[in-house]
Amino acid sequence: MTWRNDLIAKITRPGPFAGLVATVSAPDNAWTASSVTCPAMAHEFIYQAYKLSRVYPPDKTVLENISLSFYPGVKIGVLGSNGAGKSSLLKIMAGLDDGFQGEARLTAGHTVGYLAQEPQLDPNKTVRGNVMDGVSEVQSIIDDYNTVMAKWADPDADYDKIGKQQAILEDKIAAADAWSLDRNVEIAMDALRCPPDDADVTVLSGGERRRVALCRLLLSRPDLLLLDEPTNHLDAETIGWLQKHLTSTLAP
Ligand SMILES: Nc1ncnc2c1ncn2[C@@H]1O[C@H](COP(=O)(O)OP(=O)(O)OP(=O)(O)O)[C@@H](O)[C@H]1O
Ligand SMILES: [Mg+2]
Repeated sequence: MTWRNDLIAKITRPGPFAGLVATVSAPDNAWTASSVTCPAMAHEFIYQAYKLSRVYPPDKTVLENISLSFYPGVKIGVLGSNGAGKSSLLKIMAGLDDGFQGEARLTAGHTVGYLAQEPQLDPNKTVRGNVMDGVSEVQSIIDDYNTVMAKWADPDADYDKIGKQQAILEDKIAAADAWSLDRNVEIAMDALRCPPDDADVTVLSGGERRRVALCRLLLSRPDLLLLDEPTNHLDAETIGWLQKHLTSTLAP
């Protein structure tokens, strides 16, 4: 309950940090969310929905005429009883459902990451392979760098061109702290007590699967982090770690 109260209470002031929206089931049927859209301030928000409705065919209305605006840096809990439409809202915010009416958009230049209520892993990859999917962009910078470095061995190569490519990639590596990638992955997997690197994800328990999915998501460091009932299946120790992690890394 500490987690939930803390989360819901933190509808806070804007700051230069990632946003977080999480859903929590509650025994009432209430919606709790941030302020109504003010178009004049639109550029300040990381995400806006205006007169948003979602009707599932043939005629099931789960969201009706909802206007929400999220500042960067706020932590918002979305409350509602089972079936109230929490996951429906988060899927729209994650860009995974475009069957809505009204407007809903992530502000340009921002990234969004989403933990589904029932997270899916790639069954063709190991635990480590799934986690590495969260850092594929940084990994590709390192791969490009290694490719460029290999070109130095070619006696017919254009060394000026290679030098420029190398310099560009070194800047990108520095900006992304890419040399720390393996270490950061190890730290995250250890903190979330992920199963062994080479474990088969198709036989993981619900909690193990969620830890791998969370690890993949948190390493990808999205600007807007959407967590759908993130504590489901997690043991008390992992819930405690997650709460501390979100508080320390996202707090203004
Ligand atoms: N693809 C769909 N087609 C038809 N109905 C759907 C679809 N997805 C969800 N629903 C219905 O919409 C309602 C809201 O579902 P949603 O999953 O958003 O609820 P929720 O608030 O996340 O519930 P819970 O607390 O159980 O996770 C439910 O009645 C559900 O049956
Ligand atoms: Mg749900």
